Amino acid sequence: GAPVEVDISGLATGELKTVEWRGKPVWILKRSPEMLAGLPKLTDKLADPDSKRTPDDLTPEYARNDHRSRDDHADILVAVGICSHLGCSPTTKLQAGPQPSLPDDWQGGFLCPCHGSLFDAAGRVYKNVPAPDNLQVPRHMYLSDTKLVIG
Ligand code: FES
Repeated sequence: GAPVEVDISGLATGELKTVEWRGKPVWILKRSPEMLAGLPKLTDKLADPDSKRTPDDLTPEYARNDHRSRDDHADILVAVGICSHLGCSPTTKLQAGPQPSLPDDWQGGFLCPCHGSLFDAAGRVYKNVPAPDNLQVPRHMYLSDTKLVIG
């Protein structure tokens, strides 16, 4: 499939936009400083916090870090919104704090409604859930601060 160019100039902090790439929904989330600060706190709860064991096609090498994005645009998460278990669409739970079905120290992320897998705001999968891997981060790059190319 052809690469998809996305204008992210209108994306507000905390906002998630979905675009289609190769027939899949791709989330573009502009994370707040608070969300970014929450990511390193979760390391012990996650199955693969640095995406070391996640296959190459699920995490490009520049996204093998705790924010899973390019360092020059660390606030922007680009991830395929399909659960790595059986392919359901996880629900956005971007608000931090205690909520039903979520851990007490929830920092914002995604909950898969099918079998309860949890992913943080970098698409990193929690331990002890059915999903085996982090969400896919497709290859992407920035043509400018407002022009993102996926694929
Ligand atoms: Fe998401 Fe099973 S498909 S937890």
